[in-house]
Parts: sequence; C-alpha cells; structure tokens
Amino acid sequence: MKKNISLTLIIFLLIFACNTRKEKSFKIGFSQCTTGDSWRKNMLEGMKRELSFYPEIVFEMIDAEGKTEKQNQDIQKLIDEKVDLLIVSPNENKAHIEVIEKAYNAGIPVIILDRRAISKKYTAFVGAENYLVGQNAGEYANILLKGKGNVLDITEGANTSPTIDRNSGFVDAIKKYPNMHFSESLLMNDFDSIQLKKYFVEHPSLNLVFAHNDRIALSVYKVCEALGLSKKIKIIGVDGLAGVNEGLDMVNKGMIDATILYPTGGEESIQTAVKILKKLPYSKENQLFTTVITPDNVRIMLSQFQKVKVQQEDIERQALKITELNTTYFSQRNRLYFISALLLIVIVLGGFLWFLLFEKQQSNKVLEEQNLAIIKQNEEIERVSLQARQAVEDKMRFYSYISHEFKTPLSLILTPTEDLLNRKSYDSKEGKPILALILKNANRLLRLVDQILDFRKIDSGKIMLNTETYDLVSFISEIVNDFAIKAKKNNIDLQFICPFKELPYTFDADKLDKVFFNIISNAFKYTPNGGLIHIMLLRSIQNIEITISDNGIGMDKKDKDNAFELFYRATQNVSLGTGLGLALSREFVNLHHGDISVESEKGKGTTFKIVLPYLENNTSTQKHPIPLVNHAIENDFISLNGNLNDFKNNKNESETSIVIVEDNLDLLQFLSRKLSQFYHVRTSETAENGWEIILNTIPDVIISDVTLPGRDGFSLTKQIKEDFRTSHIPVILLTAKGKLESQIEGEKAGADAYMGKPFNQQLLEEKVKNLLDNRDRIRRRFSNEITNLNHVQSNERKFLIDFELLIEKYMKENTLSVEHLSKEMGMSRVQLYRKITALTNKNVNDYIAEFKIKKAKQLLLDPSKNITEIAYELGFNNPGYFTTFFKQKTNQTPSDWRNV
Ligand code: FRU
Repeated sequence: MKKNISLTLIIFLLIFACNTRKEKSFKIGFSQCTTGDSWRKNMLEGMKRELSFYPEIVFEMIDAEGKTEKQNQDIQKLIDEKVDLLIVSPNENKAHIEVIEKAYNAGIPVIILDRRAISKKYTAFVGAENYLVGQNAGEYANILLKGKGNVLDITEGANTSPTIDRNSGFVDAIKKYPNMHFSESLLMNDFDSIQLKKYFVEHPSLNLVFAHNDRIALSVYKVCEALGLSKKIKIIGVDGLAGVNEGLDMVNKGMIDATILYPTGGEESIQTAVKILKKLPYSKENQLFTTVITPDNVRIMLSQFQKVKVQQEDIERQALKITELNTTYFSQRNRLYFISALLLIVIVLGGFLWFLLFEKQQSNKVLEEQNLAIIKQNEEIERVSLQARQAVEDKMRFYSYISHEFKTPLSLILTPTEDLLNRKSYDSKEGKPILALILKNANRLLRLVDQILDFRKIDSGKIMLNTETYDLVSFISEIVNDFAIKAKKNNIDLQFICPFKELPYTFDADKLDKVFFNIISNAFKYTPNGGLIHIMLLRSIQNIEITISDNGIGMDKKDKDNAFELFYRATQNVSLGTGLGLALSREFVNLHHGDISVESEKGKGTTFKIVLPYLENNTSTQKHPIPLVNHAIENDFISLNGNLNDFKNNKNESETSIVIVEDNLDLLQFLSRKLSQFYHVRTSETAENGWEIILNTIPDVIISDVTLPGRDGFSLTKQIKEDFRTSHIPVILLTAKGKLESQIEGEKAGADAYMGKPFNQQLLEEKVKNLLDNRDRIRRRFSNEITNLNHVQSNERKFLIDFELLIEKYMKENTLSVEHLSKEMGMSRVQLYRKITALTNKNVNDYIAEFKIKKAKQLLLDPSKNITEIAYELGFNNPGYFTTFFKQKTNQTPSDWRNV
C-alpha cells in the first residue's frame, strides 16, 4: 500500500515537473505608424509568422493610421499596459522621441523598426540602410542613363528618416557624375496624377524618376504611360515586394526599370525581441540587406520569392499544426491534470481509508489480545474449577469407595451374626468358626479405619517417623515367615532371597511393616495355587533395594500406571488389592525418602520394587530387637475350618445344584456353608474356573460376585447367557457396589437378580428359592407347550424348537438317538439331559416320546394317512410296535383315538 502511494506521488510530481518547463510569458507591444499598404501588411505577417514559434508571447499591435500624435498616445498606452518590450515603427523621426525615451527610461526595451527616430535611447534597431537604398538608386540611374540625363525623386513624407536618407544617398550618387543632374525632390502628397502629368509635360528634359516606394513608382508609370513617355522616362522604385503591380511584378513586366529591395524586418524584429526578452546576446544595430532588382535579376528574385512564399506557407501550415497540437496537448494536459487531481483525491481518500483501516486493525488487534487474555483467564478459571470439581469428585469417589470397602467385612459380620441369632442354640463347634469370622472382619474394619487415619495424618502433614535401628534382614524375613503357612497351603513357592546375614538400618518399623505386609498380601491374592512369590533384598553403597515378585495374574498397563493412585482405585472396578494399601505404602516409603515402583504384565506377574536410601554413617550401630506385629493373615479361615475342600464341593443330597463364584474366601465359605443346607453347592474363586464348573455341571442357579480377579462377574454372566448350554440358568450377581450403573451393567449382561453387599442371608436364600420356583413355572410351561411352538419368545424356546426339528428329522430318517441329538446340538449327553430337564422337567427320552405322541395325534387327524404310513413316518419299523407305544402312553390304540 505504502509502495503504491509513493509510486503515484512520484508520477504526479513528474507531471508537475514537466509542467514547470512552460516558458515564462511575455507581452510585446507594437506601435505601427500605419497598416494601410501592402509593405506594412507584409511586415505584420512576417512578425506573426515568427511569433507563432513563441506561443508564450502575447502580442499587441496598435495602428496609428499615419497620425503622428495618435502614435504617441499609442506608445503611452503600451507603456501603461506594462508591456515587456516595445517595438516602434515611428511615423516621423523627431515627433516620438519623448515618449520612446520615456518607455526606454521605464526599463522597457525598445526596438526601433524600419524608420529611425533621432534618439540614442533605444535598445535595438532593425531595418535596411535608407542612405544605401538612395545611393543604389542613384548608381543605377547613372547606368540607365549612361551617365547623362536629368533626374528627380518623389518622396512620401517630409519628416521621415527614409525620405531624408534615401534622398541624400540618391543625390550624393548623382553628384558623382558630371552629366547627371538632380533637378528636385517632389513630395507625393502634393501631387495627384493630373498635377504629375502637368509636371511631366512642363519638364520634357526629365529622363528618370526615383520613386521612394513602388506605390509611387506605379503612379509615375501610369502617368508616363498615359503621356506616352514610358519609353523616355525611366522609373526606379523601392520595396521590391512580390505580387501583382508590386515592385518585382512591375520590373518583370517592364513597367518600371528597377526597384530597390527594402525588407520589412518583421521576422527580424521579433527574433531580436525574443533575444532581448530571454536575455540572450543580440545586436543593437541590425541592418537588413538591400539590393537593386533589375530586369536582369528579377526572375531569380521572383523564383526566390516564390520559394520563400512556399516555405512560408509550409511554416504557416506547420505553425497551424503546432497550434492544433498545442491545443490537443493543452486539452490532454488539462485532462491529465484533471485525472491526476482525481487520482490524488482517490489516493488521499484511499490513504485516509487505509489509515482508518489500519487504526481499526490496530484496535481489533488490541481487542483480540484482550479477548485472548480473557479466554485464557476463563480457561484458567475453568481449569481451576475443573480441578476443584475433580478434587471434590475424587473425594466423593473416595468416600464411596471406602464405604464399599466397609461393606464386605460388614456383610461378613452382620450375616453370620444374624445367622447365630436365628439359631435356637448352637454349640462351640458350630459357633466358633462363625465368631472367628466376625472377629476377623471386625479386625479388617479396624485396619481400614487405621489406614484412613494414616491418610488423614499424611494429608495434614502430621505423620511422623518413629525410627530406630533394626536388622532389616531379620525384619523382612519375619514378615515373610508369617506367610509360610498360607504359602504351603496354596502350594506357593515363597522365598526370601538375601545375600547377607544382617543389615542394620534405621527406619519406622510400624510403617515399613505395613508396606511389606501389604505388598506380599497382594502377591498372594493374585498368584494362583502352584505359583511363586520371591522377595529379594539387595544393597548398593547408596541404596537398599527390595523386590517382591510374583507370577500371578498381573495387571494391564493402565492399572499398573495407576497402581499407587488412591483416587484411581476408587474409580476402577478392578482388583488392585483391597483397602488403601498401595497408596499408603507409597506415602510411607516416601516418608523414608525412598521410592516404590511396579512392573507388571497381564497374565505373567508383577514385581514391586522399593528403593530406600542407605548411607552407612547415618545408621546407628545399636540395633533394636524387632517389634512384634500381629499379622492378620487371611489363612485364619483355613485353620478355623480344618478342611479346605469342605466348602469346595458341599455334598448335599439335593438334586438342585448351585455354583458360587466369589473371591473373598470368607464370604465364599460362609455362603457355601449356608446354602449347602438346601442345595448341592460348588464354588470357585475366579470367573475362569467358575465357567468350567458351570459347563461341567449345568447347575440350577449361579451366584457370582461382580468384582473378581481377572474377568469380572458381568463378563461371566454374559458368557452364561450367550451360551445356549447355560443360557437357561438364573444368575444372581453379588457386589459391594450398589450403584445404579453396576445394576444397569448387570441387567445388560442378563443377570436375573442383583444383591448389594452387605446382604441379608435370608433374603439371598429367598431369592435363590424364587428363581428356582420361576424355573419350575417355565419348565411347566415348556413341558405343556411341546410342539406348540408358535410363539417363539426366548432363547430357550429357540433351543427347544431346534431340538424338536432335529427329533423330527431323525425320526423320518429312522436314526433317532440321544447321541445323535446331543452331537447335533453341540453338547455332551449330560449337558443335553441337564438342559432338557432344567427347561422341561422331563428327561430327554420322555420328551422325545411325548413329542412322538403329539406328532402321531397330529398325523392321525389326517384321514388320508393310514396307521402303517404314520408308524413309518414316526420312525417305527413295525406298525404293531407303534400301536403298542401309543396305547402305553394314551391308553388308546391309534385307530380308537382316530375314531373318537
Ligand atoms: C510603407 C513605406 C514603404 C517604404 C517605407 C519607408 O509605408 O512607405 O513603401 O519603403 O514605408 O519607411
């Protein structure tokens, strides 16, 4: 934009710079004594021709019409007009001296043209030398008259310099020749043609007349002609103009004998004026060339004049063209000025607009910056409020998580307590394990409360380390030893690996005990029977490194990355250990200026690494005995119950079987014990194992916890409901979470009932009973509806339709057997038996028999079919056997049935 403006300005300045080339204008005033004759007209034309080259010059001519006084006034007028230069062709030689000198004195350059004034105060003179004109005439008269004769001259005005000078030049030349006689000088004004005739008649000795201009010469010729004297009297004129009856014409025609060329000086006077005005060098005296034009040279002169005339006409045409071009130029220039002016206005306005735009942009920029700052502030506020909201949500989640954590132990306190209260009496053998369960879960609650209080202390910065120097090797080995029984029971390879015998170290025994105990407990929780848990203690100069590795179920990346995050655990449904153990462990390790980290891979195992700073000189050498800690390891239950398998497969005579999937062994044991009073109970601690048991046994009801290590209860439910072998089995989901979302998820998975912890044992029993009753109702319906399969509504009906279609197919092929059917249905014989019984309360064979009867009745209704045909269609090789079979089932023969 700036570039454009500067470019336009440069163009504009250039245009004006060109314009300043214009010449300064001048005014020339010309006082002419007369314009009445052709010589004067020639003079004026010459001036104008020359002036056409100088358009900047203003020219004003005033004609005095031959009046001396008027000419003085004219000159004065031009002085008053403050002309820049004055040209005067004075009428008389003395009469104008005063006014001419006045102009000269006023600083106006004065050019005297043609006639002289008797004054030295003029700037320049332009004109031919009149004395020479007279002299040339005298010399030529002598030649014409061959040195002998009488001559006279005829003049125009008495007091003009040409009259005086031409006369004296002529007289002086004649005087030189003794036989030449100058008789007198006549003033033309005093003669008309009659008087002139009279004069010529009276002076018969006159041989030659010198006429002071060609106009006088023409008059003389006419008189001589009239008198018949034209051969006798020679005539010499002055001026030598071209044109009819002008000097050259008359010489050419022989009317006169010669004319003396007397140039007008029109062009020359203007040329001199321009030089003066432009302060160029000029000559003061500019004498014009004069010559005698005789019959000998008149043709050359005429042709010269002709050429000059053509040239002059060319010049005039060119001048005209120049004038036209000038006119075009000026109009174009004016247009250019106008356009330039418009352009300038546009540029100025454009510049102004640009300026406004720039201002606006600037203010917009400021506004944008302010906006940005406000947006940033808003974002910051949003971020802070989000953080605050997050913190509040985290806290709320934490509270709800903690509450749920309380629910399982509470269930295991409340439910057994209710159980005890509901008994009329119980002996110590029955009561002791229940009370031990209650005590254990009360202790678990206490531990949770302790952990919360520890967190509170950490949060408020009030927790203190209570350090003493102990032998770290013994310290860890004692904790590991506490797990030895559990390890043995679970067939887990538990090892404490340490390359040295002892390692004195100063630490808070209570806190590090909690850390190691928690991590080893977790390792046990997620390591299956037959797995390994290795604890290793190593030392470098600066650090102590303790690793706890297991080859258990491991964690996925997300769980691993968030293993120590308190609030993460509160949002996830995965088992990363119960309580606040890991989050608290990190805090305790950090209090010791140490670091805790975890490496884990799903399905491969987990390694926790604790690095503690070790600086030998800081460690006091005085060792303290290791404090005694009562580790409530969850193998109490085993010892309390004697035989682990007691609850694993609770044998009850009942036909009805239940599978319980629950990872909390206390709860599993408790439920198993309670329900095995009524049903045959099978248990599993994981979903994977649970699914195997379910598939093998096709139970009547399944109870599953939602939160399980590895696959959760929702996933198990979904699998049960999607597999046609198990889809008919009612599922009760059991969870500590009472949230609506969990319920929705449970529903989606297809759970039949949902119980939140802590639950009422009786309520659970009722629920199981209801579901079994429902199943009986369904069974009845299905058993009634055999072959009436118009309304297919559920998976189970579909199963039965498929099953009946297969019966029909094999019946026709006569290859009907349970083996064929179960194979075709993708089930084992047992599974098929259990499924059909579960759905219809009939065994497979009865079901097939009933189907055949119903089909037989259907066929019997068709009178076109005879009994033998129907028997074969139903797969009987023998119609007699069909009749027996039909009678057995209906107490009627087929024919009787048909006839009724
Ligand atoms: C014209 C004229 C010329 C002459 C000149 C002398 O007015 O008379 O014929 O040569 O003036 O000034």
